[in-house]
Amino acid sequence: MDFTLTEEQIMIRDAARDFANNVLKSGVIERDEKQKFPHDEIKQMGELGFLGMMVDPKYGGGGMDTMSYVLAMEEISKIDASASVVMSVNNSLVCWGLETYGTEEQKQKYLVPLAKGEVIGAFALSEPEAGSDATKQRTTAIDKGDYYLINGTKNWITNGGTASIYLVIAHTHPEKAHHGINAFIVEKGMEGFVVGNKENKLGIRGSDTHSLMFNDVKVPKKNRIGEDGFGFTFAMKTLAGGRIGIASQALGIASGAYELALQYSKERKAFGKEISRHQAIAFKLADMATEIEAARLLCLKAAWDKDQKNNYDLSGAMAKLYAAEMAMRVTVEAVQIHGGYGYVKEYHVERLMRDAKITQIYEGTSEIQKIVISRAVLKG
Ligand code: CAA
Repeated sequence: MDFTLTEEQIMIRDAARDFANNVLKSGVIERDEKQKFPHDEIKQMGELGFLGMMVDPKYGGGGMDTMSYVLAMEEISKIDASASVVMSVNNSLVCWGLETYGTEEQKQKYLVPLAKGEVIGAFALSEPEAGSDATKQRTTAIDKGDYYLINGTKNWITNGGTASIYLVIAHTHPEKAHHGINAFIVEKGMEGFVVGNKENKLGIRGSDTHSLMFNDVKVPKKNRIGEDGFGFTFAMKTLAGGRIGIASQALGIASGAYELALQYSKERKAFGKEISRHQAIAFKLADMATEIEAARLLCLKAAWDKDQKNNYDLSGAMAKLYAAEMAMRVTVEAVQIHGGYGYVKEYHVERLMRDAKITQIYEGTSEIQKIVISRAVLKG
């Protein structure tokens, strides 16, 4: 493995860094406080190609590799994890799922505008009683000949209110357990499809998370993704790549908090010298820098596996587990290094600490990653 960055990868990373600093940073505190979705900023991200980075240019994407995606995700997440979750879901779950398993007609109709960032997508798997145990879907999709009739409720759906295109997982043949699950493309505006309440969240408050209700929604048969019964495998395969995106989000949140803490520690004086010169703080910084570097290498390894067409279920789960747990530890320490300043909004680190928490929960909790990893290591 050689993680020396190519000129193109450096250019993408720097473009993401500039965008984050020049466009996202100024309004990030207000968006967090008021739970304002970054509409204009996401539109610009689409124009710059950040919403369909890995999609083939023939479908409107950037044709970039997963390594570039990880680098860009880290930079955007350092400044605004609410914007980066929109980016992650659109790239990893929605675009990737459609490009890999969609029909040509589905790609032309749905993938092209998603990859260009003209519309954004959502991935609707979680339900009130099916989060970690994703096989227990209660939403049903009954085969009615040339359409499916969808009924049920989804919860905590990222981009739930702002998306135009939703990939919805539902049970068609409950008697077949997970082999009876399907994935469908549902458009906003289809009769009977209602976007429910927006969640008032601890972190990533600029992103918009909703419940979704389906009341006799007629979805054309041609909107099913893959063969009948492919839906659970579709969800698992898609989430495996999604975990690389969330791992790099966690990495970015942590490195953003670390950079702020490092800077602050060199400026703030206590007991006659900069606090960075006190060993209590210097050792914290050493641990933070080491853990961030370890997470970065795990993220790049998972991305490299994906780019090499190796299986990345294990490396993606390891990256997600480690980066999320690390982000929580590092952001707590960043607040601690800032002392009282860390507890107020202007210094950004309290937001990053709140944002870090979700990375241990969505796209599979840390415990789910441990299930995936332990099964792989026990199998040998
Ligand atoms: N690729 C392909 N197939 C897979 C797979 C993978 N990575 N993982 C599992 N499968 C298949 C298995 O092969 C099996 O198929 P067969 O029966 O044909 O052999 C089937 O799926 C069931 O597998 P398991 O018996 O291992 O399933 P399980 O019930 O024990 O649990 C799990 C598997 C890994 C725990 C899974 O349920 C899981 O990942 N849960 C977490 C779900 C999740 O991530 N939710 C997040 C919601 S989306 C989100 O958060 C988006 C957002 O807003 C940001």
